Amino acid sequence: MSCVKGLVESGQLTSVPPQYIFRTNPDQDHLTVTEPEAIPTIDLSLLTTGTPDQRSKVIQDLHHACQDWGFFTVTNHGIPATLQEKMISAIEGFFQLAEEEKREYSGKELFDPIRWGTSFNLEADKVLLWRDYLKIHVHPNFHAPANPSGFREILHEYCIRTRQVASELLKGISKSLGLEENYINKKMEVGSVSHQLFVANLYPPCPQPELAMGLPPHSDHGLLTLLMQNELKGLQIRHDGKWVAVDPLPDAFLVNIGDHMEILTNGKYKSVVHRAVVNGKATRISVGTAHGPPLDSVVSPAPELVAREGQLPAYHGITYKEYLMIQQKNQLNGKSCLDHL
Ligand code: SIN
Ligand code: FE2
Repeated sequence: MSCVKGLVESGQLTSVPPQYIFRTNPDQDHLTVTEPEAIPTIDLSLLTTGTPDQRSKVIQDLHHACQDWGFFTVTNHGIPATLQEKMISAIEGFFQLAEEEKREYSGKELFDPIRWGTSFNLEADKVLLWRDYLKIHVHPNFHAPANPSGFREILHEYCIRTRQVASELLKGISKSLGLEENYINKKMEVGSVSHQLFVANLYPPCPQPELAMGLPPHSDHGLLTLLMQNELKGLQIRHDGKWVAVDPLPDAFLVNIGDHMEILTNGKYKSVVHRAVVNGKATRISVGTAHGPPLDSVVSPAPELVAREGQLPAYHGITYKEYLMIQQKNQLNGKSCLDHL
């Protein structure tokens, strides 16, 4: 199976090969992409070093962002723009390696440390996706491909810094739920044995972008995903029954609630369906870090939240590892993984 980059570079492709033709859901899709709207913005520096008033305002904003959107932009996060740029260049460098070199990481299993491939799950995908990927398990055990040179160091720094940002956000989110600041970090063992997955997506230019799909509608596993990208747009999120095209601010991170936050909060903060569309102009790169609990942790609704709201737990507990196995075995399809709970 050729990767999309290989396919595009192999010659003059003037149409999308039939196996990539993706039929969108007409009920959801007829002209519902709206103009980019301002999704909520969180200034992280005000949460970490602001005055008490600024801090409470950010916590309130986080509450609305998590409840009403499930997606928000994070600015002043403290990760140097130069590190973000180096990370994107290092990813370009990886995908530019010779195919034989990348093949060392192909055909791997879900929990193998480094996986390079195309589409999502070639055994389950009925239609191929216009996307190549590099996935690396980076925490609690750090891994990195040997090449290109410098990749390991940049990735290492990038993963430490994104974990710190995730942990600060989780403090604010705990507070926004009326819980003690370190509640989620402690419960999910963030920073010690919590799991972090690094996913780089490459979407080469597509001759008929409206016929192919980069990533179909799905929600993310884990608690939070931190996403950055090169200058090309492509992410769309489902909001109020419409697709909203996100126009990210340079240097900012886009953060979204994952399924495990939905489980932990007993549905108070829900994961949000999103997709990545492709373009005809240039290669888009996005890079997400998924911040989850430890692989062997059973995540179930927080008893404190369930009791306080007089509800019953709406989800069964399942280990993060089992959950990832369910997601990987199936096609990516909206929030269908949560149906298994
Ligand atoms: C993702 O959903 O994991 C990536 C989305 C994107 O490429 O913007
Ligand atoms: Fe995603």
